[in-house]
Amino acid sequence: MAERPYVIDELLSAKTIAARVEALAQEITAHYADTDKLVVVGLLRGSFIFIADLVRELALPVEVDFIEASSYGNATTSSREVRILKDLRGEIEGRDVLVVEDIVDTGHTLKAVLHLLDGRKPNRLEVCALLDKPVRREVDIRARWVGFDIPDEFVVGYGIDFAQRNRNLPYIGAVRFTGT
Ligand code: IMP
Ligand code: MG
Repeated sequence: MAERPYVIDELLSAKTIAARVEALAQEITAHYADTDKLVVVGLLRGSFIFIADLVRELALPVEVDFIEASSYGNATTSSREVRILKDLRGEIEGRDVLVVEDIVDTGHTLKAVLHLLDGRKPNRLEVCALLDKPVRREVDIRARWVGFDIPDEFVVGYGIDFAQRNRNLPYIGAVRFTGT
């Protein structure tokens, strides 16, 4: 599949993304204005560019931590197992935690990660997702902040990969297969 030729059609330019990230950061800064305990948790690997840009726009004292989850499913069942490949380094009990995700698709990954983190008794637990594909949702989950709702297209760039490639594109584009 990775060998099939494809082109990438730009959906969101670097400039459009930057403007939206700035607006999100302003909302998040206002929301957490009264806290000195915010831990921003990036879900590896897809969120690494988004979180880097977002935290630089937050006018708040923040700590940054990362967690890596891998979801793999049996295509014939609707249930999907999510494994934690890399856990947080820090404690989050009593802390305000903002999970930063690249894309919410079916929602299974986010649901599992939130369930895990919630068990550690954070104070407030919220999510900021750069992209959301609402039509793909299989579980009832919604990020408090969403950068862009997008249609059911496979996207790459700005941290997001297709078979580990294209994470370094400064824009977000849709993968379109070419040829036969
Ligand atoms: P979910 O558990 O189905 O919500 O999966 C979410 C994860 O799948 C995202 O964090 C991405 O890593 C990956 N994913 C979903 N849609 C895309 C896409 O269009 N391009 C690349 N990765 C995607
Ligand atoms: Mg991801």
